[in-house]
Amino acid sequence: MPHLNLKPSHKAIRDYYATLRQYDKHSVTHEGAVSSPFETLLTVCAKQVDATLIPQFAMRAPSGNRIVLDGVILDEYGLPFAYWEAKDMDDNLARAVQEKRESGYPLDNTLFQNPQHGILYQNGEQVFDVDITDPTRLIAVLQHFFAAPPAALANWHAAVAEFKEKVPTLGRKAAELIAEQHKTNPQFVTVFTGFYEQCRAAINPNLSKAAVEEMLIQHLLTERIFRTVFNNPDFTRRNIIAREIEKVIEVLIGQTYSRDAFLKGLNPFYLAIEQAALLCKDFSQKQQFLNTVYEQFFQGFSVEVADTHGIVYTPQPIVDFMVKSVAHILETEFGRSLSDTGVHIIDPFVGTGNFIVRLMQDIRATTLEEKYRHELHCNEILLLPYYIASLNIEQEYFQRTGTYLPFEGIALADTFELFEDQQIALFTQENTERVERQKAADMFVVIGNPPYNMGQANENDNNKNRRYEAMDKRIAETYVQDSKATLKNKLYDPYVKAIRWASERIGEEGVVAFITNNSFLDGLAFDGMRKHLAEDFDAIYILDLGGNARKGLKVSDANIFGIRVGVSINLFVKNRRRKLSEKPNIFYYRTDELWNKNQKF
Ligand SMILES: C[S@@+](CC[C@H](N)C(=O)[O-])C[C@H]1O[C@@H](n2cnc3c(N)ncnc32)[C@H](O)[C@@H]1O
Repeated sequence: MPHLNLKPSHKAIRDYYATLRQYDKHSVTHEGAVSSPFETLLTVCAKQVDATLIPQFAMRAPSGNRIVLDGVILDEYGLPFAYWEAKDMDDNLARAVQEKRESGYPLDNTLFQNPQHGILYQNGEQVFDVDITDPTRLIAVLQHFFAAPPAALANWHAAVAEFKEKVPTLGRKAAELIAEQHKTNPQFVTVFTGFYEQCRAAINPNLSKAAVEEMLIQHLLTERIFRTVFNNPDFTRRNIIAREIEKVIEVLIGQTYSRDAFLKGLNPFYLAIEQAALLCKDFSQKQQFLNTVYEQFFQGFSVEVADTHGIVYTPQPIVDFMVKSVAHILETEFGRSLSDTGVHIIDPFVGTGNFIVRLMQDIRATTLEEKYRHELHCNEILLLPYYIASLNIEQEYFQRTGTYLPFEGIALADTFELFEDQQIALFTQENTERVERQKAADMFVVIGNPPYNMGQANENDNNKNRRYEAMDKRIAETYVQDSKATLKNKLYDPYVKAIRWASERIGEEGVVAFITNNSFLDGLAFDGMRKHLAEDFDAIYILDLGGNARKGLKVSDANIFGIRVGVSINLFVKNRRRKLSEKPNIFYYRTDELWNKNQKF
């Protein structure tokens, strides 16, 4: 991590004091105002050390109470290493610190300040109590504050760099082992062939052998992380897919090596991950961290699958907004809530489980078990996100209830495949049963972030030109048929399929909330799609977040995902009780072109 370089003559410091003088002149003393120049200063400092200040950061104290800090500073991988709490001029800072201590604020590296005073705690001890109206003292305290990332963080940074080099080597070694076992171990050949057939039936009939071998390797290299980061030693026995893969791995590795010996090269990295995970103060930070590990793992291990843009997480403010919007629509249009019995909810492209976890947070404690057992559903096609989503969702349930209950609403399956008529065996008996239960459910809400063709996970080589007979046929007889455009292949983009799939999946009534590529809003090829959407739904709300690099961006970080495709949040509502007179029913809002992604959030 770079060092903080700050002098009294620097603009950031001069601006900070100048703003405070202005406030003073107008006798402005309340916290909301006087904390903002300090926030600006911290933002500049954080940038210098490749970190980010997140204002108004909510987390859980050890007691389980929700606390909101004025700011937390996250390193480039999203790990927290410094906390900030502001008070106003009239607050007695020492007393305020005492109160915060009692309510469980972290004190590993926490700066309490008001315009006069700075109190810095590190490792639970007070190390500074200074007058920060003096710029040299202010700078000293800031330097300590930013120079104190814990050792675990430094190890983690070193490990990330090293991991990127080591993992492909270990991946190759595992691939060689598999090749050798194919030649010499008839038992492995039998088990592998059985597993390969299961995968083809469950995921994609065209799936290559290499892709299935890669799944084994991913499992082998990552399962320890899943067990340790969430302290879930039974993960490989509890998870129905991991259990199946373990059987193949046992035969693969059993006779030749001990697993520990095989993975020895990754030990320092595993340890770095495990220790860095301890920096996460609460479970949601851990979830975030696991996403990062996943991203790093993919980038190091199978770049072509991750395709760097491929594994795109939905930023938390977007997930929050979409969940709240669905709750609002349920209430205003249907008089129902997320907690109500009968409101089945599905995220068909669950990734690491963000949406389901967030939904669970808004479900009442009294109905959570019922919803969790029967009315929350999701699918994921790739193995590692599937593992992470399962863990994240089960952990959220554990957090809320104190009980471990396997989440049976998740399936390792291809959502579009489920549209096909024929019944196929989907991996294991249990996975197939889950899919059948899901198919039988009367979905009321579909929510999520579908893949787009522009390099998302669906783009992996085995999936690229995947044809889905039934899904493609529905697109052809609806959106394609009613299009006057000459070039219509864009209508087979997975995000378009996802919208078509969802609009049929909710049946006569319900809500679809997707964040997608926004090209359907004005693209030539999408005229038929727009016509159908207007007919199929009774109300449509579009929040166009822009960010299409081809249309020329006015600010560099305008895209909320950091991709080149423009995006929009789309809420489609079918409510047959709505009266025609209640139209207009299409609502469109576009965010300012000058806004960067943080302003959009
Ligand atoms: C944009 S990501 C979703 C991200 C997720 N909301 C999150 O924040 O983690 C899309 C996910 O859908 C998965 N996916 C793509 N095509 C799929 C399909 N046909 N069926 C099920 N999952 C699919 C991808 O593997 C990827 O994890």
